[in-house]
Amino acid sequence: MKKLVVVFLVLFSINTFSQKFEGLAETPPLGWNSWNTFATDINEELVKGIADKFIELGLKDAGYEYIVLDDGWMAKERDANGNLVADPIKFPSGMKALADYIHSKGLKFGIYNCAGSKTCGGYPGSRGFEYQDARLYASWDVDYLKYDWCNTEKLNAEGAYMTMRDALKKAGRPIVFSICEWGDNEPWKWAKDVGHSWRATGDIINCWDCEIGHGSWSSKGVWKIINLREDLRKFAGPGHWNDYDMMEVGNGMTDAEDRSHFAMWSMLASPLIMGNDLRTASKETIKTLANKEVIAVNQDKLGIQGFRYSNENNFEIWLKPLENDAWAMTFVNMSDATKRIDFDWMKHGFGDDLNGKWVDLKQQKFNIRDLYNHKNIGDTASNLKAEIGSHDVLMLKLVKK
Ligand code: GAL
Repeated sequence: MKKLVVVFLVLFSINTFSQKFEGLAETPPLGWNSWNTFATDINEELVKGIADKFIELGLKDAGYEYIVLDDGWMAKERDANGNLVADPIKFPSGMKALADYIHSKGLKFGIYNCAGSKTCGGYPGSRGFEYQDARLYASWDVDYLKYDWCNTEKLNAEGAYMTMRDALKKAGRPIVFSICEWGDNEPWKWAKDVGHSWRATGDIINCWDCEIGHGSWSSKGVWKIINLREDLRKFAGPGHWNDYDMMEVGNGMTDAEDRSHFAMWSMLASPLIMGNDLRTASKETIKTLANKEVIAVNQDKLGIQGFRYSNENNFEIWLKPLENDAWAMTFVNMSDATKRIDFDWMKHGFGDDLNGKWVDLKQQKFNIRDLYNHKNIGDTASNLKAEIGSHDVLMLKLVKK
């Protein structure tokens, strides 16, 4: 009997301390991260200003929640007790005060560190300090941790991320765990029970389809990322998402390209983490980012990642099954010129074998909603005719009649 009790207690404690926090990120996280625009040039006034803009620009109202500080928030050395310290010049009031400010706006606070000995920017990493760092984040009321993969030498990725997961669990505060190991060790195969999302690739860059080499790795434009990792959909679902990286909307592509980028990240059920300077963003950029109808596709409760339906004549067509037998459908004009579509529904059917969803469009009719123009545009009884500008998108929601 005694033995049984011991076995039970051991199993119970393993179960208690070695699982990720459940019930978080049931839909893809929505937020902002400092890296794409500011790199390590961050400070508390900037971050507070961003929090203010979440409210002023209607981004909180649209669902954005997390404000995440990326690399560069720390002092270069830990203190005498081995604790991480906020950079005293950039963040003179400290992290708890910043978290309090962000929470006072009804938002959530995210922070960054790395599984290696140092972060990519050369600040102290968490290797060997995982439990201590997790306790510190919990004491600062952190809600989200992005955990990078620089300077990890021969560390085993799954093991290293499990250690941090366990440390966060032990610290007791529910913290979304965002894995950032660039897809090198195929985290989609092992991270479902480790984190709430995992980066699928190396870093994004603000271009439509370019790739820029940096020696051992390269940064990739929007379509390079999509094409590299379009096959991961079966690994995504509520609480565990493929992360296609922080967005470049508002960072120099055309408005049309930004709309397509945003539509695609929504179709892919990726976390929607803004990466632009919200204080100087144009009206058009905010219109794209705050589009609730597009965000609703990303946030659909089924949590099914979309898939490429076809790629012909310079048109990409993507589908994403939604709740109530609805579908999101996105046409992207990949060409350099405006193009017309004349889409005959009767010649098409939809099929998602993975989720057992099939539609015979001859039998089943749908009403069509245009999600960027916020208009109902008829139904699938007659051909869909539209003009789509270069690199622009027509994003639809099809609602069963
Ligand atoms: C990279 C990561 C970026 C950013 C950067 C910070 O490894 O992919 O998103 O966090 O490190 O140094």
